[in-house]
Amino acid sequence: MKNIKKILLAYSGGLDTSVSIKWLKEKYDTEVITYTANLGQKQNPKEIKDKAIQTGASKAYVENLEKEFVNEYVFKGLKANALYENKYPLATALGRPLIAERMVEIAKKEEVDTLAHGCTGKGNDQVRFEVGFKSLAPKLNVIAPLRDWEFKSREEEIEYALKNKIPVSVKKDSPYSIDQNLWGVSIECGVLEDPWEEPPEDAYLWTQSFKNTPEKEFKLEISFENGIPISINGIVMGKVNLIKKLNKIGGKYGIGRIDLVENRLVGIKSHEIYEAPAAEILMKAHTAIEELTLDKESKQFKHYVSSKYAELIYNGFWFSPLRKALDKFIDKTQKVVSGQVKLILYKGNCRVVGRKSNSSLYHYGLATYDKNDIFDHKSASGFINLWALPIQIANEKKNELRPDKEVIK
Ligand code: ARG
Repeated sequence: MKNIKKILLAYSGGLDTSVSIKWLKEKYDTEVITYTANLGQKQNPKEIKDKAIQTGASKAYVENLEKEFVNEYVFKGLKANALYENKYPLATALGRPLIAERMVEIAKKEEVDTLAHGCTGKGNDQVRFEVGFKSLAPKLNVIAPLRDWEFKSREEEIEYALKNKIPVSVKKDSPYSIDQNLWGVSIECGVLEDPWEEPPEDAYLWTQSFKNTPEKEFKLEISFENGIPISINGIVMGKVNLIKKLNKIGGKYGIGRIDLVENRLVGIKSHEIYEAPAAEILMKAHTAIEELTLDKESKQFKHYVSSKYAELIYNGFWFSPLRKALDKFIDKTQKVVSGQVKLILYKGNCRVVGRKSNSSLYHYGLATYDKNDIFDHKSASGFINLWALPIQIANEKKNELRPDKEVIK
């Protein structure tokens, strides 16, 4: 066993990480400092701090990183239109590298030699934390108690907690594993482990079911500047508040429920549900401005970049050279992504119904079929002759070689 001197543990305040404090102290006979980041998950910082100290931490950091999270992570994902496997806006996955980054900074300040986290050996988050740690501070040791300890079940953990006077939440534990931040909630376990079973209403935290949403539709207008949303219905607001507001409105209208059987990094398929009202609304609105303002080649190429960007985030490669290079490309494209989008929210649907921009490439005179048409119709026929040429030649050649098949008359 390595000689461990001082540990910094990513701490959520839940059972696993609370038990981890005690277990690490016992096993390595060392001091444990905890680190908790608020990325918008509605927690009480004082409660978390007190609980960590009560459980045996020598010091407990609790920080509000909502702004950094939105500016440096969430909006990069938005500008990229990053959706893993075309569906998941990556709330959890975007949060991990930020926490890793801050933990490395604090580790230096506190002269910590070991970082620890409460992720299991089956998930993606262990990979994201540890790739982050290795990218930024390869010399620090890493411990993942949940991969190493002897407890075989939650009951055994609770027993250990009670024996060691670790405060265990008295209210009945949720059957789900939940992670939430500003960009969404991720929910798994319990009945969700059967992908055929309809997720029960109690699994959802932020969004209403169709039948409980208002009967009237809700109209929304969002303004963007260089790919970033700046106002809702004409009211300019801070970015954190803008996201919180859209989560609230969207949730009321049942927007942003995502149900996905996804491919985890460790090779497992897992069924997870997500709630991401603001992410759904903003991704749709942002894409609508891009449709209007990006030139054809950039728009179509950016589509490939989106899926690669989402994979990099999902796979824990936030600190990779490729992600940083793609950001430069994406930021360059966003210089023209400014304007307004109109949307309607109704019974779980979010639809774009209008868009405008000063940098719009839409040309009425070219598009119209009425008398204002300025398009040169005659030039189309020469264009088509050349456009078809390679296919025409290939098919003629093929017919020559295999005259019995697909003969062109
Ligand atoms: N599957 C999602 C991801 O890998 C979320 C993971 C955390 N989910 C949770 N319910 N604790 O990003």
